Amino acid sequence: MAEARKRIALMPGDGIGTEVMSATQAVLDALREQDNLPLDWDWLDWPSTAWHRDHGQMMPEDAMTRVQAYDALLLGALGDPGPLNDPKRYTLPDSISLAPLLEFRKGLQLWACERPARLLPGAPCYLADARAKDVDMLVIRENSEGEYVNQGGRLHRGTSLEVATQLEVFTRTATERLIRHAFVRAEERLRARADEKRTRDYTCTQRDQAKAQVCVITKRNAQPAWGELYSEVFAEVAKDFPNIGQRHELVDAACMKFVQSPWDFDVVVASNLHGDILTDLAAVLSGGLGLAPSCNINPDSQALPALFEPTHGSAPDIAGKGLANPSAMLLTSAMMLQWLGFTASAERLRQAVARQLTESKEHNPGTQAIAEGVMRAL
Ligand code: IPM
Ligand code: MN
Repeated sequence: MAEARKRIALMPGDGIGTEVMSATQAVLDALREQDNLPLDWDWLDWPSTAWHRDHGQMMPEDAMTRVQAYDALLLGALGDPGPLNDPKRYTLPDSISLAPLLEFRKGLQLWACERPARLLPGAPCYLADARAKDVDMLVIRENSEGEYVNQGGRLHRGTSLEVATQLEVFTRTATERLIRHAFVRAEERLRARADEKRTRDYTCTQRDQAKAQVCVITKRNAQPAWGELYSEVFAEVAKDFPNIGQRHELVDAACMKFVQSPWDFDVVVASNLHGDILTDLAAVLSGGLGLAPSCNINPDSQALPALFEPTHGSAPDIAGKGLANPSAMLLTSAMMLQWLGFTASAERLRQAVARQLTESKEHNPGTQAIAEGVMRAL
């Protein structure tokens, strides 16, 4: 029986998105060839600021239908295309240029955003404590509601009477499925560590130590309505996972502890906005945004395409200079290959990125040189 081929949309987007996507396409080409992967891809010039300049919108009218022809979407970055020193460049307000990202996440029901933060050997370590080399956490961010529902508005705009409201929405359904998914991932990570003969001890709330942990983040001391909902659902779901340690942190304390003892976090589950903020911090703990992968998935279904995009943005300050690190995009592609079922190739790609990192002598060899190093390592 012929193997079903998978279709990917390569969406470079804006700024360094184009550069890291070109590098990634070259690497994926090599990997497809070597591993005989049943993969096809199309290079789409939308969504992007350039498409908006030419067509008056970020993507075609029927984009949400057209993307459903794919099994996965690989997106570079959206935002200011740069370069910053070109004052005449075509730019848009964030609310327009970033909208497709949020439209994909919500419209394709990609309710979980996973951002692993593991410090690879050779990656920059910004913390002085030697234990910080053991950073290996997975932050799971709510991706469908919360602070990102964009409901609200401005009354008496521009006057001294102006009132701005920004509604937050938290449902039990979305909370329950997210937290359950976090526990499932914690179990998988526990099994993976056992397979690799590694063990970890995490300090937890309900008992001193556990071999795996889920930490739920809230701000329930100031925002009790959703904070208590999260805590209650967490306690209920945790009953089904007796071998996983439980922990709760307020988001401000979590920021402090991410820096103070990041090795003591395993799986972290957070609301949309808290997860957004914590994952920039987690990215730095694992070597910086140039190394931070991310995916938006529906853990229950592959009926609609999942969206894979690095945590970083369009980086207009370095756009067009060949300086952007494609590793985040490559590690993101590895997550995509894993999601599509190409587990061995995903692992090979991760290993190649890791090897390039340890073998590279220079601090920043540039986009092209990193891609070539990864291809040699494959
Ligand atoms: C991210 C980004 C987006 C977010 C922005 C661009 C809307 O910061 O993917 O982390 O806040 O989700
Ligand atoms: Mn962010």
